[in-house]
Amino acid sequence: MPLVPDSTPTPPLRGAVLGLGMLGRHHARLLQASERVAFAGAVDPGGDRFAAVRDPGLVFGSVGELLAAGPLDFAVVAVPTEEHAPVAVELAGRGVSVLVEKPLAASVAEAREIVVAVEAAGVHGAVGHVERCNPALVELRRRVGEGQLGEVFLIATERVGPFPDRVRDVGVVKDLATHDLDLVRWLGGAPVERLAAQTQHRMGRVHEDLVLVTGRLESGVAFNCTVDWLSPTKVRRTRVLGERGMLVADTLTADLTFYANGEVSSEWSSAQALRGVSEGDATRYALARREPLLVELEGFVDLLEGRPDPRVVTLREGLEVRRRVDAGRRRRAGEDRAAAGGGGRARRARGDRL
Ligand SMILES: NC(=O)c1ccc[n+]([C@@H]2O[C@H](COP(=O)([O-])OP(=O)(O)OC[C@H]3O[C@@H](n4cnc5c(N)ncnc54)[C@H](O)[C@@H]3O)[C@@H](O)[C@H]2O)c1
Repeated sequence: MPLVPDSTPTPPLRGAVLGLGMLGRHHARLLQASERVAFAGAVDPGGDRFAAVRDPGLVFGSVGELLAAGPLDFAVVAVPTEEHAPVAVELAGRGVSVLVEKPLAASVAEAREIVVAVEAAGVHGAVGHVERCNPALVELRRRVGEGQLGEVFLIATERVGPFPDRVRDVGVVKDLATHDLDLVRWLGGAPVERLAAQTQHRMGRVHEDLVLVTGRLESGVAFNCTVDWLSPTKVRRTRVLGERGMLVADTLTADLTFYANGEVSSEWSSAQALRGVSEGDATRYALARREPLLVELEGFVDLLEGRPDPRVVTLREGLEVRRRVDAGRRRRAGEDRAAAGGGGRARRARGDRL
């Protein structure tokens, strides 16, 4: 330790936002409000349509203009999914760490490009799978880890609601189901061993608007994800079922409820032989609620400051999620080709790819 401590204060990290759309405006709000980072500005060729940036002089038309205005430690990439790779690769190449919105990229090849560019540049990278910062899911995972449910059998997610008109470049699989594929692995604590999927195109868009995914983790836990843009009400529910009961997280309201198996004894010996469950007590937990996007940002800043944070979703995890999406699509396409020789089966399979 030096005799005279270095009293030079460390300047705060300088962060920016790329893309001032539906999500980027919230990142801009949080960066400007943060006491831990200095807001370096935002880039959006379309300008600041939500008036998210207090100082209009900090809205730039390109990464080059942003960097010319001052040094930059990190950037949140909240541009349309198709643009993630070019933007993240450019930033990494200029020595800027990146927190890339989910899904990591529009294709596996592009996701890999981002991983390679970030690792080659020696900067930090992470993916914004913000559901992992939802208080209800964080607490659910903690309780499952502590063994509250005993052995876990099933993880089921439901993410349905009306179509958000802003999403032009991808379908429900990349935009929403990537959340679920990340969640089942994270909650189940094991990689996906296999999955199958059904999709539907009901709105006349080129991209799918409904997907049902069913699969199994390497640990043997079964999972099921129901995701669509066709439902007239928004539902965000994750259910984990085990031998002692079920935990249900509502991520819209950040509520977590435990449904215990009942402890009803039976004197009827043949009924005792059937090992079904009955309804027990239901408990809704009181949780401290913090904005998930803020928790995600804090985790990333911790990482940049040299304190790796378990809340940070690594680029390699984001790449694995993208791989799973494509594996499901290839399997589905193979089934379609096989069905194409089979008359009526081919018609049923058409328009039904993941
Ligand atoms: N984590 C979540 O839960 C969550 C929720 C919504 C969106 N997202 C992700 O965030 C990303 C953005 O989604 P959105 O809904 O905000 O989209 P959006 O269309 O509302 O906004 C995107 C913005 O990026 C700008 N843009 C386009 N190309 C750019 C470039 N090269 N540089 C800078 N800006 C550029 C556009 O002008 C637009 O303002 C998508 O990848 C989406 O999947 C994640």
